[in-house]
Amino acid sequence: MIRVARIRGTGAYLPERVLTNQDLEQMVDTSDEWIVTRTGMKERRLAGPDEFTSGMGAKAAQRAIEDAGLVADDIDFILVATLTPDYLFPSTACLIQQLLGAKKAASLDIQAACTGYLYALSLAKSFIESGAYRHILVVAAEKLSSITNYKDRSTCVLFGDGASACVVSSEGEGLAIQSVRLGSDGEQAELLIQPAGGCRLPASAETVANDQHFIRMAGNEVFKHAVRRMESACKECIDAAQIDELDISWVVPHQANIRIIDAIAKRFKHLPSERVYKTVQKYGNTSASSVGIALHELRKEQSLQEGEKILLTAFGAGLTWGAALLQAQR
Ligand code: ACO
Repeated sequence: MIRVARIRGTGAYLPERVLTNQDLEQMVDTSDEWIVTRTGMKERRLAGPDEFTSGMGAKAAQRAIEDAGLVADDIDFILVATLTPDYLFPSTACLIQQLLGAKKAASLDIQAACTGYLYALSLAKSFIESGAYRHILVVAAEKLSSITNYKDRSTCVLFGDGASACVVSSEGEGLAIQSVRLGSDGEQAELLIQPAGGCRLPASAETVANDQHFIRMAGNEVFKHAVRRMESACKECIDAAQIDELDISWVVPHQANIRIIDAIAKRFKHLPSERVYKTVQKYGNTSASSVGIALHELRKEQSLQEGEKILLTAFGAGLTWGAALLQAQR
C-alpha cells in the first residue's frame, strides 16, 4: 500500500506586541530607512514576559489540529523545531504535549535553526509513509527576543517571535508532500551561533558579561550562503519530483531578508514576484517558525486549487538548508 503524507491542517500564532522600526530607532543607532532598504522589515512581534516558546507553539498547534478536523487525542507524535526551547531539557515538545493534553503522543525536539520546519516535515513524511504513525503534529516556535541583544544593531532589527504548526496525516484532504531535500555544513557553524549556555561554555558571570548568550552572526557571509544554498535546494527538490519549474504556483521562502527572498525569486524566471510569498515586512525573521507562518497565511488567503504546487525553502544556522515540494490534493 502506497501512503501519501499530506499537510492536512495548518495554524500560526503571533504575539500581540509590535516592535516597529521607529521603536528600534529609540533603542540603537539605526533608521527606518536603513532597516527597510537592507531587510524589507517594518515591524516584528515580541512575546510578553510570561509568554514562552511552548505556549506559543501550543496555540499554533491547537489551531492546526482544529483546521485538520482532529482532536489532540488523535496525535501520535509531536515534533517541535526550535532554537529557543523553554529549557535545554526537558524538551519543549513534552511541554506542548502537556499543554495540548495529547495523551497518546510521543514527543521530540529538533534543532536545525531556521530550517527546522523543513527538517520536521521530512521526518513526519517518512514516519507517515512507513506506516508507523497516522497523525503527526509539526510545531515550529521561537522566542528569539530571549537571545537577541537589543544593544547590537546588526542583529536586533532582524528577529521576531512567533509560532507555526501543521498536522501531517496519512489520510484526508491537504497538501501532499511530494519531495524534500535537506543539507548541512558544520564547517560554517561559527557564522551564526549562540556561543554560551551549552557544555562548551556553560553559563557564568563572564559569559553573561561578554554577551555570549546572545545571537552572533557574520551577516554578509550568512547572506551569501543563504542565497546559494536555498537556490540549490530548490533545484534539487524540483528535479527529485521530476517536474518543471513552470509547474510551480507559489514559492514560500524563509523570511530572513527581502534581498535574500528577491534573489531566490530571480531564480524562478517564469514566476511573477508576487507569487513568492512574503511576511518579512510584518514579522521579521522568526527562525524555524517563518516558513510555517507564511504557508499558513498563504493557505488562508488563497484558495489553492487541486494540483497547484508550492515550493518551501529555508536556510539557517548549522549551517542547514532545505526545500520541500507540496501539491494541493483532495
Ligand atoms: N542600522 C544602521 N546601520 C547598520 C545596522 C543597522 N541596524 N546594522 C549594521 N549597520 C551598518 C554596519 O555597521 C555597516 O557600517 P560600516 O559600513 O560603517 O561598517 C553597514 O551598516 C553595512 O553593514 P553590513 O553588515 O555590510 O550590511 P548588509 O547589507 O550585509 O546587511 C544584514 C546586514 C541585514 C544582517 C544582512 O547581511 C543579512 O540579512 N544577512 C543574512 C541574515 C540571515 O539570512 N540570517 C538567516 C538565518 S537566521 C537564523 O538561522 C537564526
